[in-house]
Amino acid sequence: MSCVKVISLLLLLCTRLALAWEPLPAQAPTPLDNPLTEAKTELGKRLFFETQLSKTGEISCNSCHTVHTSGTDNKPVSMGIHGQRGGRNSPTVWNAAFWTAQFWDGRAASLEDQAKGPLINPVEMGMENHDAAVKRLVDLKTYGESFKKAFGDTAITIDRVAKAIASYERTLLTPDSAFDRYLKGDKAALNATALRGMTLVKETGCTSCHSGPHFNGPVVPGGFYMKFPTIPGSEYEKKYELAKDLGRFVSTQNEADKNMWRVPSWRNVELTAPYFHNGKVETLEEAVRVMAKTQLAKDLKDVEVQDIVAFLKTLTGKKPK
Ligand code: HEC
Ligand code: HEC
Repeated sequence: MSCVKVISLLLLLCTRLALAWEPLPAQAPTPLDNPLTEAKTELGKRLFFETQLSKTGEISCNSCHTVHTSGTDNKPVSMGIHGQRGGRNSPTVWNAAFWTAQFWDGRAASLEDQAKGPLINPVEMGMENHDAAVKRLVDLKTYGESFKKAFGDTAITIDRVAKAIASYERTLLTPDSAFDRYLKGDKAALNATALRGMTLVKETGCTSCHSGPHFNGPVVPGGFYMKFPTIPGSEYEKKYELAKDLGRFVSTQNEADKNMWRVPSWRNVELTAPYFHNGKVETLEEAVRVMAKTQLAKDLKDVEVQDIVAFLKTLTGKKPK
């Protein structure tokens, strides 16, 4: 075999590997200083549903991330205490344990960091400060034993609250989607429409950004970002105000971060309408059309949109009991 032939075969193999489809990993990464234990995930679950962690006693994490449905509130933007609305759509907590950066703009590095934010966000749970949140739990007098089981003694601290909530979130994984079953050899798991969609997301160019086991790009520390809209000036941009929120720039003030957003996962995307950081797009069909136009300068035919949506729907996984 000639040298050229060997090289081209190797190249072919490399592209094959790079474009390989990957199933949902069985476990999410866990930081060394917060090993996963049952006592901690149980405490974290209680805290996730605890409305006393909000100023008005009415809002819990679950209010905006309803775990028995989509892990979101399915509203354009969330409603916190006193009916106040923030500017961004609530992303799902399902599989969030896999992301290397949290929030649409990736401004929190870990689930532990993230969990402390909403408690003192004035338009979310609205506590004055973290001490006030801890005091609420102390005053309830029902948490001491659970903290002891999880952490060895009854002391309640904000770091322990965050660690427990993050541990619970690491159990919110959705394996065994039709797509995962297909990859594991069940060729009947995807029908012809979904299979056409699977080819189309590659051919159209979607997987140049939405790659990897979660379709949110390469797993890199700090998160994987892309500009949205990449191609400015479309009708969609005006209609859905896509360029109004400056994205990552808002937290970094770095010129290069203007309109940069984390590439979000496609896992369970069927359940998490409405779409995009501002929740302005109501259906998955429209979200796919917007993406093709603003990211790839393509107008998809209706049948192509349907095929792609059929494929995206095969990424809905199973929730644990
Ligand atoms: C009032 C609604 C509301 C409440 C209450 C709330 N969140 Fe959120 N959550 C949001 C919104 C909106 C975002 C996205 C904000 C952004 O990206 O700027 C978000 C983002 C997140 C993310 C990031 C997910 C991702 O894909 O990046 C996680 C994880 C999360 N919240 C967990 C929690 C936890 C834990 C609590 C309770 C301590 C909580 N949330 C309380 C609305 C809420
Ligand atoms: C250049 C990179 C890039 C390409 C190519 C791309 N996307 Fe995206 N996609 C993104 C980014 C960034 C976002 C987040 C946008 C935002 O801030 O709301 C996104 C968001 C989405 C969402 C909404 C997710 C949600 O939870 O609201 C869907 C659905 C989606 N993309 C599908 C597709 C499809 C289908 C294609 C191909 C037609 C595609 N994308 C091509 C970068 C890309």
